[in-house]
Amino acid sequence: MIRIENLSFSFPESEKFALKNISLDIAKGEFVALLGPNGSGKTTLALCLCVIIPHFFHGNFQGKIFINNKDTADCQIHELAKETGVLLQDYESQLFLPTIEEEIRFQLENFGFPADEKIAELEQDAHFSHLLKKKVFSLSEGEKQKALMVAILSVDSDILILDEPTSQLDKKEREQLLETLKELNKQGKTIILITHDTCFAKHCSRFITLNSGKIVRDEESLETIDSLGVEPIDYKWGTKNNRERRIQNTKISIKDLSYEDVLNKVNLDIKNNEFVLICGANGSGKTTLVKHIIKLLKIQKGEIEIDGKALKKYSQRDIASRIGFVFQNPNHQIFRNSIEEELEFTLKLLGKENKEKEINEMLSFFDLEKYRNKSPQALSTGEKYRVAMASSLVSNPDIIILDEPLTHLDFKAKQHFIKYLAELKEKGKTIIVISHHPDYYQSLVDRIFIIKNKEVIEQ
Ligand SMILES: Nc1ncnc2c1ncn2[C@@H]1O[C@H](COP(=O)(O)OP(=O)(O)OP(=O)(O)O)[C@@H](O)[C@H]1O
Ligand SMILES: [Mg+2]
Repeated sequence: MIRIENLSFSFPESEKFALKNISLDIAKGEFVALLGPNGSGKTTLALCLCVIIPHFFHGNFQGKIFINNKDTADCQIHELAKETGVLLQDYESQLFLPTIEEEIRFQLENFGFPADEKIAELEQDAHFSHLLKKKVFSLSEGEKQKALMVAILSVDSDILILDEPTSQLDKKEREQLLETLKELNKQGKTIILITHDTCFAKHCSRFITLNSGKIVRDEESLETIDSLGVEPIDYKWGTKNNRERRIQNTKISIKDLSYEDVLNKVNLDIKNNEFVLICGANGSGKTTLVKHIIKLLKIQKGEIEIDGKALKKYSQRDIASRIGFVFQNPNHQIFRNSIEEELEFTLKLLGKENKEKEINEMLSFFDLEKYRNKSPQALSTGEKYRVAMASSLVSNPDIIILDEPLTHLDFKAKQHFIKYLAELKEKGKTIIVISHHPDYYQSLVDRIFIIKNKEVIEQ
């Protein structure tokens, strides 16, 4: 069904080949996991398969790709779109229309399928109908990813290429997607799944691992190797943090916070030097809650205090110097021309001196030294996350808020970052993490809060 012959590709202005001499046959009905560390070429390969490379991203492209015996060099992106459904790692770039309903209609009508029936079916679906008419920009990241998946699957393509399809999904949605994919595979669909989530990948029947743009393993059973960025199956991330909590001062106090129909009279006290995890289903209001703390959303009702002082008395700059925030989508926070400039910008904004030392430390810690002068846009997603983290933490903030920070990082980078969080905690920082993967933070967490039915409850 898919044949790749001696494929190599390098992005413009990059001497390094992102893919090197890839040759691969994938038969109809295979369920393939594509694994490998950050920057190994997984997404680049996916982009070649759906001809976004070389039609949209130009570069040095060598070799051939055949899909259903058709040479893709002769195909435009839309010609392949019917037989190949693609969910990009940067799913947001695939959403064009104001609402999900329009997006699904467009997908179907574009290929000559009637859309009314599908829309009527989704209107009856209690877990989806509320998303149909909402403006896309108002959806949570998980809702966007889930909704786009529904739009893609509605086309019934023979081949599915899914790049990190669970990165923003809660546990229930992940389980549901897995069941859907297993069923589609049983019906004969060919699926290529790119993921850092081994719990998900282990259900595939073939495991291809890339490293530095080359295929280094191609096997029928999943053998995980740390150095290849693949998490061991059922890896235990650490034992529960049983340290006795001292009575500490309140660092952040949230009183009766309400927002639209998302949060209702939320009360939450976060103590100094606490590590707090905020969990809750897709769309439950986790990001909305923390956006209030960093003054990205205006308080409609209720109060927030930091160190006993009302939030409104802090300037935006005060907040930026006290709180390091890493967005759920790194594209929302990296704008500069180079990675070095990205970090310099944070420090300059906060009027900090001695930039060189801090920047060097951060680049070396996040293994970004080699990309110092590169544009953050010319990086893999996992690498972009590392830039976002480095630029938020370089100013040594007192409070750290991370919104689903780890799902795009490979196993080694995840472990490395967890260790770093432990060091930050040791140094007395207050840390708030939003995540659908509480297991990663077992050894660090003091308290877990769950947002459910617009309220926050302690677990
Ligand atoms: N638009 C781009 N321009 C230039 N170089 C790029 C671009 N996108 C990715 N790269 C580089 O190509 C290489 C492969 O990146 P790719 O995105 O394919 O990695 P990946 O395996 O998908 O990583 P991740 O696990 O982080 O998603 C990396 O070295 C990356 O820095
Ligand atoms: Mg990728």
